[in-house]
Amino acid sequence: MSKDYLLLPQVKKDLKIVEEELAKVVAADGVKLAESSLTTLRAGGKRLRPILVLLTGMTNNYDLSCLIPAATAIELVHTASLIHDDVLDEADTRRGFPTVNAAWDAETAISTGDYLFGIAFEVLSKLGNSDIVKVMADAVLALSVGELHQMRTCHSLNQTIDDYLTKIKNKTALLFSAACLVGATLSGASEIEVEALGKYGENLGMAFQIYDDVLDISGDEEILGKPIGIDLKDGMVTMPIFFALEETPQSKYLQKVVENVNSTEEDIKKAINIIESTSAIERTKNEAKRFIESALETIDLIAEGEVKKGLRSIGEFVVDRYH
Ligand code: FPP
Ligand code: MG
Repeated sequence: MSKDYLLLPQVKKDLKIVEEELAKVVAADGVKLAESSLTTLRAGGKRLRPILVLLTGMTNNYDLSCLIPAATAIELVHTASLIHDDVLDEADTRRGFPTVNAAWDAETAISTGDYLFGIAFEVLSKLGNSDIVKVMADAVLALSVGELHQMRTCHSLNQTIDDYLTKIKNKTALLFSAACLVGATLSGASEIEVEALGKYGENLGMAFQIYDDVLDISGDEEILGKPIGIDLKDGMVTMPIFFALEETPQSKYLQKVVENVNSTEEDIKKAINIIESTSAIERTKNEAKRFIESALETIDLIAEGEVKKGLRSIGEFVVDRYH
């Protein structure tokens, strides 16, 4: 079981409203794609991005009528990106359930992602706040840039750890940052607080993706709800793989697996064993913890209270989880 993290009772309560809103907006048009969308949303997820919107939305004035659409929209964007990602990865399961491309087909999955993406911006536009739309649009742009960068560099050893950090900043961290910027802005927080919370989100997102890449190697498939070793199969050079390549006497084998576009399950298992025989996993977890420390340093200026307690707790969860 994953470590439970402290979720403020208010956030817990309002997250239920977000869940209801997600189901409502997706089914509203009665289109066929609602079924594939709802299947994905019902499979659950950690809902970290809407939680961040709600929590940072408490920084100053808590106005639920703005926060619910914003939290709903960010989860819709995230879900759309995962549905598209599963097509690219040819993944069969996510969150313990068949992916849209597995249960239907790739075409349905692409259309479902587009549909959710469209609804997200429709919901967001109801706020009538172009600053918020801009923050979200920038995050989506970054997401797409990150994903493209990842596609272009897979199966290549001609990349550095800085390339990896740029990719994960774009594909993951900036959406976490957007969640915090949106919540803090909607609460009427000061400019300096909004900036600090945006940086908190970015650092938290970096730690989240680094830890996700650890779980892809050392996680438990049952708890994760998806197979492990996918990054290796897809030729992605994540942080633990960089560290293992530095350390292992079997780096030639590991290099071959990264470069191979047709690695077998046996190859992947052997590569995972090689990585686990080094200190790569431990070193990577320490790097993730460093990002959490930076996240917490950036919110030094936020007054002590429930919001800060919640942000600390999310930080702890991100680097101490099993899914
Ligand atoms: C999951 O990460 C995927 C992402 C964080 C981003 C995917 C982005 C796109 C496919 C671009 C399309 C965007 C929109 C808005 C429709 P991962 O692959 O590391 O994690 P996983 O192991 O859970 O798949
Ligand atoms: Mg993926």
